[in-house]
Amino acid sequence: ARILVLHGPNLNLLGTREPEIYGRTTLADVHSAMEARGHADGVQVESFQSNHEGQLIDRVQAAAAEGVDFIIINPAAYTHTSVALRDALAAVAIPFIEVHLSNVHAREGFRHHSYFSDRAVGVICGLGAYGYMAALEYALTRLREMG
Ligand code: DQA
Repeated sequence: ARILVLHGPNLNLLGTREPEIYGRTTLADVHSAMEARGHADGVQVESFQSNHEGQLIDRVQAAAAEGVDFIIINPAAYTHTSVALRDALAAVAIPFIEVHLSNVHAREGFRHHSYFSDRAVGVICGLGAYGYMAALEYALTRLREMG
């Protein structure tokens, strides 16, 4: 089985970017923890970060061709703006969990709306980097159930 983890713009700066909001864990830390957890279950966990909307869309489209079973995505600021990325996920029909490090509902009003949440299997926000691990745990359970 394969799980794809997608990270939107500015998440390459994780660890140094507004650490009081996003924490000190780097994207490399997140990736290696998720990869190791997946590996323990014989599941390949692949990560992709881009600051470019079109590259994220291309990666989602490629995921369908590659037979990716599950997507975990933090669309970052595209959460609040991108109909195109939402449409890409709908097009490939791969189940996905939406993750945010911060509690977007406790922040500025423009962060309260997501173009993804109504399509997501579930949404996790405010738990920091742990949210990715919680999402992965759920995805692994679901893949196990699907056999
Ligand atoms: C974020 C929340 C978004 O509002 C913001 O634009 C981000 C990160 C989060 O993980 O908390 O870049 O998705």
